[in-house]
Amino acid sequence: MEHVSVLLQQAIDSLAIKEDGIYVDLTLGRAGHSSEILRRIPEGHLYAFDLDQQAIEESTTRLSAIGQNFTLIHASFASLKEELAKRGVTKVDGILADLGVSSPQFDDPARGFSYRYDAKLDMRMDQSAPLSAYDVVNTYDEASLLRILRDYGEENDAYRIASNIVRARKEKPIETTFDIVEIIKASKSAKTLAKKGHPAKQTFQALRIEVNGEAKALEQILRDAPTLLKKEGRLAIITFMSLDDRATKRAFHELSTREGDRYGLALRPEEIPEPEYRLLTHKPILPSLEELEANPRAASAKLRVLIKN
Ligand SMILES: C[S@@+](CC[C@H](N)C(=O)[O-])C[C@H]1O[C@@H](n2cnc3c(N)ncnc32)[C@H](O)[C@@H]1O
Repeated sequence: MEHVSVLLQQAIDSLAIKEDGIYVDLTLGRAGHSSEILRRIPEGHLYAFDLDQQAIEESTTRLSAIGQNFTLIHASFASLKEELAKRGVTKVDGILADLGVSSPQFDDPARGFSYRYDAKLDMRMDQSAPLSAYDVVNTYDEASLLRILRDYGEENDAYRIASNIVRARKEKPIETTFDIVEIIKASKSAKTLAKKGHPAKQTFQALRIEVNGEAKALEQILRDAPTLLKKEGRLAIITFMSLDDRATKRAFHELSTREGDRYGLALRPEEIPEPEYRLLTHKPILPSLEELEANPRAASAKLRVLIKN
């Protein structure tokens, strides 16, 4: 399926793009957001990251039709600071992240992201990366599997799934997405299985986050990206999982709260330093009903925006 960009207009508006600005798209994908940024910066420059070589190749063609003032970087956005520094860039006007998997990744059975197709367990965004979902499922010890399923999947049956994975792989390696779906189903009660939603959703989310280092990369970006913003520069983050939204909300809140308020220090108001950042909106921006009708995948999307004072 073509990737339909989520919260496209809202994200672009929230960046308040300047014609000569320097912008970073941390999650290029099929260049939906990047194209709109590039169109608005005839005098500026766009840097865009993706772990997926296919995304880089297809977006090169797409963006070249708009302008030549862009640089695509095949690396994790966790290395944002170093990759920009290598190119002599230390401050930027705006940074956008549209987290997660793209539709072309999710809908390609061969990539092994989806529990709907039977495929080799893979889930790597970067197809040259050494760690795949096969390795996680077949080599991690039970305690590590349990931790991933709990922390990244918020899976209620984490304990039984981890223990059933370890038992099953003693017989033979767990090769495919459907093999793991069977193990998950066998780990859940009939009552849980009767509930709405696919029983493998949380486990697949957990495996994907582990394979691609998604939680650690977001943590890194929440630390580094704000420090790269120029005055009035903006950081816009679109999340699809409550895990990512909570981390973003917490980081933005801390950065935009006066230190004395944050630590409950007994300082007079004039002694408390002004925060370095402010929030564009206190509640996240959500897709409109029209967008949700046209693209059900936008359902859980939330956009939060931080501004450097
Ligand atoms: C939801 S898609 C972005 C879609 C894009 N905004 C568009 O409109 O076409 C997310 C993309 O980010 C990439 N990605 C996810 N985590 C990444 C990371 N840590 N570093 C670089 N790219 C990442 C994925 O490979 C995927 O192509």
